[in-house]
Amino acid sequence: MLDAKDPKKQDDLDEQTEAPARRSFLGAVSGVIQAGIGIFLAIPVLRYVLHPVFEARAVETVWTDAGLLVDIPIGEPQRRVLSLIERDGWSVRPVAKAIWVMRRPDDTVAVLTAVCPHLGCSINWQTSSKRYDCACHQSYFDLAGKLLSGPSRRAARGGSL
Ligand code: FES
Repeated sequence: MLDAKDPKKQDDLDEQTEAPARRSFLGAVSGVIQAGIGIFLAIPVLRYVLHPVFEARAVETVWTDAGLLVDIPIGEPQRRVLSLIERDGWSVRPVAKAIWVMRRPDDTVAVLTAVCPHLGCSINWQTSSKRYDCACHQSYFDLAGKLLSGPSRRAARGGSL
């Protein structure tokens, strides 16, 4: 039985009523710290998961000088080597990529990669036969990059400017 007039028992009673308040305060502080740690750890996870979304915005078109139009004869492909900056993860390095450019009579330009779509050797324009040849496994492509014959199953990649 609790005696309200006993001061020692009154102090015990006060401590018992204060203890839940202190515990809830420490629980709240602990919760805030855990939430902060959770948010801190979630940031890299969210960046990893959402990376494609942000990467799509970061992609930009970079133009590279391939020479003057007047230096390209009409109807005859010319080989050009482009100096580009290649980004692969954290690595950024300068690379040289070969392309074939051909000026059309209307001054538009057809561009073809110099990389064979079969296994990646170089394709070269042959003026005598009027086609691109790949010396590695004898794939042949027409002026537009369309596959004529050979083990390659695809046309050479290209475009127009
Ligand atoms: S790499 Fe060109 S035909 Fe094989």
